[in-house]
Formats: sequence, structure tokens, C-alpha cells
Amino acid sequence: MTKVGWNALAEWRDFRMGEVGDLWHRALIDPSLLAMVGPVRGLTVLDVGCGNGYLTRRFKRRGATRAVGVDASIGSIRLARKREAAHPSGAEFVRGDAARMPRFPAGAFDRIVANMSLMDIRDAAGTIRELARLLAPDGRLVFSLSHPCFDIDERSAWVVERHPYRETVARKVEGYRHERPVRVPWKLSETEMAYTTSYHRTLATYSRYLHDAGLAILRMAEPAPKPEIVRKSPQGPYIAAIPLHLVVEAAHFDRAVHASPPLASRGPSGQRGPASSRKGVGPTVGSVGRTRERRGAPHRRRRAGRGSVGGPRRR
Ligand SMILES: C[S@@+](CC[C@H](N)C(=O)[O-])C[C@H]1O[C@@H](n2cnc3c(N)ncnc32)[C@H](O)[C@@H]1O
Repeated sequence: MTKVGWNALAEWRDFRMGEVGDLWHRALIDPSLLAMVGPVRGLTVLDVGCGNGYLTRRFKRRGATRAVGVDASIGSIRLARKREAAHPSGAEFVRGDAARMPRFPAGAFDRIVANMSLMDIRDAAGTIRELARLLAPDGRLVFSLSHPCFDIDERSAWVVERHPYRETVARKVEGYRHERPVRVPWKLSETEMAYTTSYHRTLATYSRYLHDAGLAILRMAEPAPKPEIVRKSPQGPYIAAIPLHLVVEAAHFDRAVHASPPLASRGPSGQRGPASSRKGVGPTVGSVGRTRERRGAPHRRRRAGRGSVGGPRRR
């Protein structure tokens, strides 16, 4: 039997995700994502494309003053509310399109999280604009994706070569620049398949959407597997070598300069030291430095400081 869309998957995913996430979330994606989100005590948090809401509920239990999960799938929202009714945390769940959330006022959320959902959202540009509107002036957006460079569904694959005494693993990617909707298969059981639609976009496209929405990238992470996943999944050792996920942290341009830590970089005379310690040079990270230049900030044009800038979900 074949099913289509996120509603058709809602129960199956709810069973797998439970209250802590499945193996891929627990032992691979979420540790990097949650490290970037940081403590949420006393903060308002929006969880975009929340699915069964396990993360929304976790934020509320960890002391968020308000934690709201939004998802377009009514089946997922019903299951999230059912969990909430059984074990109340105070989290709220709303059905809606992430690209249009007029019910929330501008700047309503200190942290906005989109865990493995942006690549499944058709209007990612509109969604990122809407998230920028909802983000508090000194707030931070953190999202995870199937890695746009290494995991582009049916056009990417592991290439494993067995030599007499060793094995090499590479990742093959075709048609990277060809942005398109992709039909994603999910094997629910031996007799049942479901399909959802995902949207492959290049890394540069995500960066442009953020930039156009007035957001600057602060950090990126490419989650490495915990030992549990290396043990339990045949792909674990491969992911230890080549990442299949990307986590991005962004903030409003003007606030990003203050949010980012000072980074070691080479000064005009070649010495190394924190960029902020040199006269007339504020902390710069990637596009943040360029933004300041465009806005005519009084510092010399120079290379941005080196930063920390730099799986599969269908398994
Ligand atoms: C891969 S699931 C991730 C769910 C959850 N964040 C997790 O990690 O388990 C992607 C989710 O995005 C939701 N989604 C897709 N399009 C959306 C939209 N336009 N607005 C809000 N949610 C959307 C889907 O319903 C689905 O629950």
C-alpha cells in the first residue's frame, strides 16, 4: 500500500520519535542543534515543523517561558497535543504554514528552532523571512537540514570500494546545482510505503535566503555520530567521515556582531590575536564583517576572521 504526505506518516513518526527522538536525532542531529540553541530557561521558543513536538516539550520542560510548536500536518499536531494532554509540559501546538504565522507578533521569540524541516518546506524563502520577523532583536535562529552538499536524496549515494586489505568510502553527488522538488520514500513496513516531498536547494541558496531576510550566519556544524549510531547503523562509520547533516545558527545582522565570540585572525601586520583587540576592527564572522562594511562601519576592508564555520533522516 502507498501513502502520500506528512499526515500519512504522522503516527509512524510519532512512534519512532517518542519523547526523545529516534536514533538519528538522539545520537547525531540533536546534540549539535541543542548545543547551538543553548539554555532556554526564561526564553520564548518557537519550534518550526515540530512533528510530534518532542523537542517543543523538551524546551518547555527545560524552563522556556513559552514553547510553541508549529506544523502544517494536522495529524502531527493532533499527536503532539495528545502527548501534551497525557503528560502536560505547558507547550503549545498550532497547525499552520511556517511561511505565514500572523498570529504571532514581530519579535515574539528569543529562539527559533527548525529541526530537519526547512528542506521539507516548499516556500523556504518566505519561511525564513517570516522567522526573521518573529525573531526577537537579539534572538537566534537554529536549524538543521539534510546536508545540501552531501545528502540530496536519490542523487546522492555512498560509494564503497573493497580493496584486498582495506575499504574506502566516498559520497557521490549528482546534479547538485539542479534545485528541484524530490519525492522521498519512507518504508513503513514490508508492505507499506509512504512518500513526502522535499526540496533540494544549494548551500548558497540557503545563505541567500538568510541574507535577504536580514539574517547573518553565526556558526555552522556538521554533526558527527555518537558511538551509539556508529555501533547500531551500518552508515555510522561512513557518517563519521562524511557528514549528512548541517546545523546553522543565524541572528539579525546588527545583533550578530555582538552575539558572535571574538575570533582569532591574522592582523594587518601578520600577527595573530583576537580581531576585537585591534584598533578599529570589531569582531567579524563571515557575512557579518561584510555587512558592516556595506553599512559603512568605520573599519578597514579586510578578510573576515577565521571562524568555526565549518544524516540521513530517511533511514
Ligand atoms: C522531517 S519532519 C521533522 C519533524 C520534527 N522537527 C522532527 O525532527 O522530528 C518535517 C516536518 O515539516 C513539516 N512541514 C512541512 N511543510 C511545512 C510548512 N509549510 N509549515 C510547517 N511545517 C511544515 C512536516 O509536516 C513535518 O512534520
